[in-house]
Amino acid sequence: PLPHVVVTRAIPEAGLALLRERASVWVNPEDRPLGRDELLAQAKDADGVIGLLTDRIDAGFFDACPKLRGYANYAVGYDNIDVPEATRRGLPVSNTPDVLTQATAELAFALILATARHIVASDAELRSGQWPGWGPLQFIGTQLTGKTMGIYGPGRIGLAVARLSRGFDMKIVTCGGRKPNPALVAEFGAAALPFEAFLAAADVISITAPLTDTTRHAFNAAAFARMKPTALLVNTGRGPIIDEAALVVALREGRIAGAGLDVYEFEPRLAEGLAALPNVVITPHIGSATTEAREGMAVLAANNLIAMLEGTTPPTCLNPEVLARS
Ligand code: GLV
Ligand code: GLV
Repeated sequence: PLPHVVVTRAIPEAGLALLRERASVWVNPEDRPLGRDELLAQAKDADGVIGLLTDRIDAGFFDACPKLRGYANYAVGYDNIDVPEATRRGLPVSNTPDVLTQATAELAFALILATARHIVASDAELRSGQWPGWGPLQFIGTQLTGKTMGIYGPGRIGLAVARLSRGFDMKIVTCGGRKPNPALVAEFGAAALPFEAFLAAADVISITAPLTDTTRHAFNAAAFARMKPTALLVNTGRGPIIDEAALVVALREGRIAGAGLDVYEFEPRLAEGLAALPNVVITPHIGSATTEAREGMAVLAANNLIAMLEGTTPPTCLNPEVLARS
C-alpha cells in the first residue's frame, strides 16, 4: 500500500502534486492550524507528516504516531521541532532553507524602508483626508545611504540583506551565529562585533537569527538602552528574540526611533500598545509569502518527505546522522 502522508494545512499545489504521485495524502481541509488533539489524531497512522511552524513537533507528537518515518517542516525556522528528540528516535526531520532567503530579505528591506520613511503613517494620513498639503516638516525620516547596517544572525538571510544594502552604500557589521559567515567577511569585510559594540554601532539592526536559548530576549530593555536613539530595529526572524513589552516602552519613550516587525513574541497576539505606536510598521509573518518562495518551500518539503519515506537522502535534513544509522 502507498505510504500515508498528513499535511497539517494546505500548502501550494506544486508540493502536494509530488506527494500524491507516491502517497495517499490527507490535507487539512480547513484554512487554520490543527489543534493539538486534532494533530495527534490525524498523525496517528501517518508514515510521514508535513507540518508548520505553528505545530509543536515533540516527544508527545512522536509518541502519538508510532508509524512515523519522517517529518518535514514547511519553514526554515525549526524552533517548533525538538530535533534532539527526533534524533534519539532515529527519525529524520527537515526544514526549507534557501528557497525563501530572497523573499525574507526583501521583506526585511521593505520594513527598513517603510520604517525609515514613515510610509505607513503617511499613507494613513493621506487616506484619512487629513493631509493639509506639502509641508517642510512633515514625516521627516532617515536617509539609509552611508549608514551602518547591523546584521543580527549572519546566516543565509542575513547575507541576502547585506547584499541588498549594497545599493545604499551601507557599512555592514554583524553579530551572532555559531561561526563567521565567510561570504559576509569576503564580500563586505563585515566586522563580527560583540553584542554591546554591535548595538552601539548600528543605525539599522536587521534580525535574521533563529530562536535559540542565546537569542531569546536578546533585545531587551538593556539592549535598547545601548542602541542609538536614532536606530531602527527590524525583525524577520522569530518574535521572542525581542522582549516585545520592553520594545513598546523603548519606542514610546523614544529610546530608539522605530521598528519594523514581521514576527511577534506571542503570535497572533501583539504586545499591548504596540499597534497604537506611530513609529512601528507591522506585518503578519509574511516573510516567505511570495509565489516563488512558497512554491519552493512546498516542493522542497515534499522532496524531503519523499526521500525519508523512500530511504534516499533528503535534500535539507536537520539530523542527517540518523540517515547514516539506518
Ligand atoms: C517562517 O517563519 C519560516 O521559518 O520559514
Ligand atoms: C536562514 O535560512 C538563515 O540562515 O538566515
